[in-house]
Amino acid sequence: MENLPTGVEGLDLLMDGGYPRGKSILVTGPPGSGKTILGLHFLHRSCQDGRKCILVLTRELTEDVLTQAHSLGIGLDPFIESGQLNIRNIFEDKINKIKSVSKFGKGLCAVDTDIIEYLSSMSTEVDVVVIDNIGVMAINHDIREFADEFSSISIILLKNGCTSLFVMDEDSYNTTQRLTGYMVFGLMRLITQENFISGKTKQYLYIEKMRNTPVPVKYSLFDITSQGIRVISGMKSP
Ligand SMILES: Nc1ncnc2c1ncn2[C@@H]1O[C@H](COP(=O)(O)OP(=O)(O)OP(=O)(O)O)[C@@H](O)[C@H]1O
Ligand SMILES: [Mg+2]
Repeated sequence: MENLPTGVEGLDLLMDGGYPRGKSILVTGPPGSGKTILGLHFLHRSCQDGRKCILVLTRELTEDVLTQAHSLGIGLDPFIESGQLNIRNIFEDKINKIKSVSKFGKGLCAVDTDIIEYLSSMSTEVDVVVIDNIGVMAINHDIREFADEFSSISIILLKNGCTSLFVMDEDSYNTTQRLTGYMVFGLMRLITQENFISGKTKQYLYIEKMRNTPVPVKYSLFDITSQGIRVISGMKSP
């Protein structure tokens, strides 16, 4: 199986070279655990490698995400200018469409149809797709509806041969009974461990599953610096 480099120092070694090509990976974790940064690394590396990429944002402002990438030394602006990276901000599009807050209703949460519509019309040449954050799709939906929407998106991407990274906040992941974890090829969880006595925080990356790929080390300590995420050390799975 061919793998695409993750762009994260030390992570490719844990996954036989990177994310499995043409498959979907889910990243979940609590707020501030590094989910968005993980996606930015993958986009930056993929663009550097000449791949055509798409970033779908549902919660954060495009400007903030681009500033974050730039400050971590993985700026994406040149790739946007060259047309290699396309960013679609569902959240901002909705706000622009519905200028009056009183008219939002359930509209702002119902981003799933917009994502499906957008991905259905994307070019077949797209290699890499990052969706940050699919957790918003869980709002105002029961679990069955959410599962249907998620599998529709997964199937569109699989059929298009895209290597996809889905970011999902931990709360939505848990409230949807961790269903998405079963529906993807790979599942990575970011874990933040706080030590209230020392005041220090430790961050772990846990590769819960990666089908068809040997994962010798499941839990790995990582940190976030001005250069982004760096995997420091791994612990062999029991
Ligand atoms: N230059 C830096 N040096 C050290 N840590 C940084 C730096 N830039 C960002 N961080 C850390 O990265 C975290 C943010 O990471 P990221 O935006 O990827 O989180 P997230 O999991 O996407 O959060 P959310 O669920 O809120 O979207 C911040 O909490 C901050 O501690
Ligand atoms: Mg984020």
